Amino acid sequence: MDAKIAFTVISVIALVILRYTIKLANRYWFRPKNIEKRLRELGLKGNPYRIIFGDAKDVVAMRRQLTSKPMELSDDITPRILPYQRLMAQKYGKKFFIWFGTKLRLTIMDPVLVKEILSRPNEFRKPKNDKMGEVLAGGLFSSDGNTWTKHKKILNPSFHMDKLKNMVPSIVESCLEMMAKWNMALASKESVEMDMMPEIETLLNYVMCKTVVTGEISEETKKIYQLRITVNQQSGKLAKFMFFPGWWHLPFQEVKIMKAAHNETQSLVKKIVTRRLGEMKNGASNKGDILSLMLEAYQDEASGVSLHDVIEECRSFHFVGPESTTRSQIWMMYLLAKHPEWQERARQEVFKVFGDKKPNMEGLHQLKIVTMIMYEALRLYPPTGIFHRSISRETKLGDMVLPAWIQVTIPITLMHHDPDIWGKDATQFNPERFAEGVFNSKMQLLTFTGGPRKCTGQSMAVVIHKTVIATLLQGFSFELSPSYLHAPKHSFLLTPLHGMKLLVRKFA
Ligand code: HEM
Repeated sequence: MDAKIAFTVISVIALVILRYTIKLANRYWFRPKNIEKRLRELGLKGNPYRIIFGDAKDVVAMRRQLTSKPMELSDDITPRILPYQRLMAQKYGKKFFIWFGTKLRLTIMDPVLVKEILSRPNEFRKPKNDKMGEVLAGGLFSSDGNTWTKHKKILNPSFHMDKLKNMVPSIVESCLEMMAKWNMALASKESVEMDMMPEIETLLNYVMCKTVVTGEISEETKKIYQLRITVNQQSGKLAKFMFFPGWWHLPFQEVKIMKAAHNETQSLVKKIVTRRLGEMKNGASNKGDILSLMLEAYQDEASGVSLHDVIEECRSFHFVGPESTTRSQIWMMYLLAKHPEWQERARQEVFKVFGDKKPNMEGLHQLKIVTMIMYEALRLYPPTGIFHRSISRETKLGDMVLPAWIQVTIPITLMHHDPDIWGKDATQFNPERFAEGVFNSKMQLLTFTGGPRKCTGQSMAVVIHKTVIATLLQGFSFELSPSYLHAPKHSFLLTPLHGMKLLVRKFA
């Protein structure tokens, strides 16, 4: 009898071990090798699959080595931002694959195929978020299916033109407050060196919180902003762990700090949400910000919106909007400082349209030079340099039938610097290319991507950029400081690694 039980137990254990061995072998070897075979049959090229890490270690090592030092003052940033993809494109052409661990990423640099991918969001879906993605960009940014459709509909009014128009005076006022501080710093000096990174970050955080996300600046929102900086710092450090399955549970200091910052952010947002819910129940009006719109939906049982949904949208909007807008604004400041002739043309235009008056929405539409500079900055320095889509079943793309369980990757920065797409001067600053407007330009600007899942905040970001540039140019001129080190680094978003040191002068 005992022997029979022992035999059964051993058999069950052996079966369980066998099952997991087959599962692991399939996941880490047979499935990747099978996918690779299918891609090669389609004539696509890339490195052979290497177990567990694929190309990932090389990608990280190459990027680390190339970003360890500053670069010359050039706008050709691809050797630094996407060095591995650039090398692969030189070797294999506009379609190639890279192994991100066991996941095959088919990189596509053909604008026609990219357009097709973006126009079919139900087949080319946003990849399921890992823990890092959840922390940095949850909510609408990464949701899918019904939740996405529902939340998008609820939040749409936050991005309507009348709402954007109402934002302009608030952005101008916040700029003027910042400029008053600069004036004090300049009191008896001709020029002063400033790191624009914290200045612009604080400004846009304030603007977005107050006008878009929660409609308030409070102790909680200030703390959330600090925590966001912590999360950003940790996310850069954590990139190296992300190939380990279950890295979120590893006992590293960086993971602990990230988790603590994430949890604290959630409870602070919850506090703001609960407080506002109480106010609304007591008759407070809907301010039209994201929090109010979500809470209104939450109070309507039929909407199916939970309190967790409200918290998650507010938390993620605290990250998504201000972060990307800060980064692009920073690179616009850099390009204006680096190209004084364009800075002057932009300033002349601003004075022609507004004189000494505060910028307003009607005038912003007339700013042609400022708009050209803005789009050229968004082309050369897109905050998001790369994005991915997943396919979970065999899918046709162009004349290829792609196998299931791969991702397609669109390397925005590489495409924006590609002379085959943008012409011989693709790596140079030339706002003239947008003289006929961005929509009339034959090339597709991918900074906000495209199709139904394109950036919801695109028009808002444009309004913010133009208002900030116009207001700042009325009061100051900018020059690159001799101590500025050009070190763009892509750590989730494009960042100037050593800050953005500019010499600021009063414009007399
Ligand atoms: C210059 C500044 C900005 C840039 C470069 C930018 C870029 C992007 C990119 C690349 C995506 C991904 C789209 C995709 O996966 O196809 C995205 C999505 C999104 N962005 Fe922005 N963004 C900016 C500003 C903003 C602002 C100001 C907001 C809101 C306050 C915002 C809200 C969103 C949302 C909600 C999504 C998800 C859209 C969806 O999946 O339906 N963004 N953005």
